[in-house]
Amino acid sequence: MMLLYEGKAKRVYRTEAEDVYRIEYKDEVTAGNGEKHDFLTGKGRLNNLISSDIFQYMADHGVASHFIERISETEQLVRSVEIIPLEVVVRNYASGSIVKRLGLEPYQLMTPPLVEFYYKKDELNDPILTDAHVEMLGLATPDEIEALKSAALKINSVLSRMMEEMQLSLIDFKVEFGKDQAGNIVLADEISPDTCRIVDMETKENFDKDVYRNSTGSLLDTYSEFYNKMEALK
Ligand code: C5P
Repeated sequence: MMLLYEGKAKRVYRTEAEDVYRIEYKDEVTAGNGEKHDFLTGKGRLNNLISSDIFQYMADHGVASHFIERISETEQLVRSVEIIPLEVVVRNYASGSIVKRLGLEPYQLMTPPLVEFYYKKDELNDPILTDAHVEMLGLATPDEIEALKSAALKINSVLSRMMEEMQLSLIDFKVEFGKDQAGNIVLADEISPDTCRIVDMETKENFDKDVYRNSTGSLLDTYSEFYNKMEALK
């Protein structure tokens, strides 16, 4: 089947059905816009298992996404959408880039949760955007901007609850949205430890890609432990 798009961690293929794509999760990990890059056998499997289960949990709690079903250890079927080139980040506690940019205390509480937009453009290093920039670039209308923010906050509530059930805290995460053939905005891409910060607040242990970014542990062991905690919820 025809390869439609290849990103840093996934490949997207057309299928015989016009409105269905197949996503294959790759055994690759990158950080710092590709500055750090490694091949890790088994990483694609873990991300696919985790992301599929999170999308299913979302669906069970009223958040629709492009996800249809997982069809193998490394592949899932999704509704075909056109990705809006925005990274929508929600922050419950300060970590990562915002700590550096605004000089905040790590893990400072954000109330209400902060929603930010970044322009998904590698060659510009994904710059942060105001609502006015999003509108000026033609990426979303004012109504769509509000819809994106409210969808991101709903996802935050559901995902935070899921992490609490695992005795973990959702620090922040990034989601992407797409437009389906009818023009509806739907949650797309993936939700996994690659795209979230998830911390045991007592021990401050990370269950996310920070272990790879900061070289503080084994990514495969960390993701595998996270997946086991998810499995224990079932
Ligand atoms: O780097 P920063 O602190 O802004 O990241 C905020 C959240 O968004 C983190 O959970 C990070 O994993 C996620 N993110 C991502 N993809 C990017 C940038 C950030 O998944 N390109």
